[in-house]
Amino acid sequence: MRAAVCYESHMPLKVEELELSPPKANEAEVQLVGAGVCHSDYHFVDGHITPTTLPLVLGHEGAGVVTKIGPGVENVSPGDHIIFSMDAMCGYCRNCTLGRPTLCETYGRVFTMPDGTTRFSKDGRPYYSMVGIGTFADRTVVAADRLVKVRDDVPLEKACLIGCAVITGVGSVVHRAKVEAGTTVVVFGCGGVGLNVIQGAILASAAKIIAVDTVEFKLEKAREMGATDVINASLVEPGPRIAEITGGGADYAFEVVGWPDLVVQAFKSIRPGGTAVMVGVQPPETKITIDAWDLFQDRALIGAFHGSAMPRVDFPWLLDLYMDGRIKLDELITRYRPLDEINEAFEDMNNGVTARTVLTFG
Ligand code: CU
Repeated sequence: MRAAVCYESHMPLKVEELELSPPKANEAEVQLVGAGVCHSDYHFVDGHITPTTLPLVLGHEGAGVVTKIGPGVENVSPGDHIIFSMDAMCGYCRNCTLGRPTLCETYGRVFTMPDGTTRFSKDGRPYYSMVGIGTFADRTVVAADRLVKVRDDVPLEKACLIGCAVITGVGSVVHRAKVEAGTTVVVFGCGGVGLNVIQGAILASAAKIIAVDTVEFKLEKAREMGATDVINASLVEPGPRIAEITGGGADYAFEVVGWPDLVVQAFKSIRPGGTAVMVGVQPPETKITIDAWDLFQDRALIGAFHGSAMPRVDFPWLLDLYMDGRIKLDELITRYRPLDEINEAFEDMNNGVTARTVLTFG
């Protein structure tokens, strides 16, 4: 099988042949059909996050067909269509029991199988997989509880976006912030996740949805997704403009880039009683400084991790919404590329000319 491998930061990924061991107990093998290229993958390439487990097969957003299962697997069978979940959930810890599987206290975010070993290797050397999935590969083996079986009438090269971009954006709005109907929402950053914050705000019946970015292409996309107002932050100071549109500040502001300064800007854009939500992946060790007196006025600054997702409920729900025409997926995909063009896909993302690129296989 072939995979896109990160050997070190600041170097292009290398697409090469690896060995893939068969699934062990409670594991399954999946043939990839589509894998979305996300900024979080690129974080390991640009050094925003320093990879500690190398070599690393990147990719955490994907969908495919189950090809083999190991002993004890009951949730999927060969032939099933699945979407990968970044959240392995034990189902028994306090957070899983409370319906917060993204915060599972047993598994957390591991770059191996639950037993600490890997199924990718080359010449006997273990190759790790991003969040235990590694979707930039034509086949992968994962813990079976990372697989969510879904309806089989949705093209998998579209369904793949549900696992990261869509659920992270929509979930941050509906699960974490619990945006109420009639409120005003501002989104800082209109990449794959930011565009889905807009979709979430529409589902929540927000009155105003203001999109902020510095790239005109992304603001056009934001309008296409349903933003009511857009602000090009390279031309206009967003703060005063947001205050003007909302009559004094937004009820909710989402930071979806991963810049500490933008979290502060999001916090400053909300009115007394408002909530700012940090969705972007910040560099580790980042400190954020906000004005204590602003916080005092019933403002809140909260984090949202992977949209506080409940993948086994949310993924089928979001696909149903798509098939019923109530959320958009096609508009999020700017182009398809084969796995070999992963570095070009990163380049497009960095140049702001794509919303999402989906890698296709076979
Ligand atoms: Cu992602």
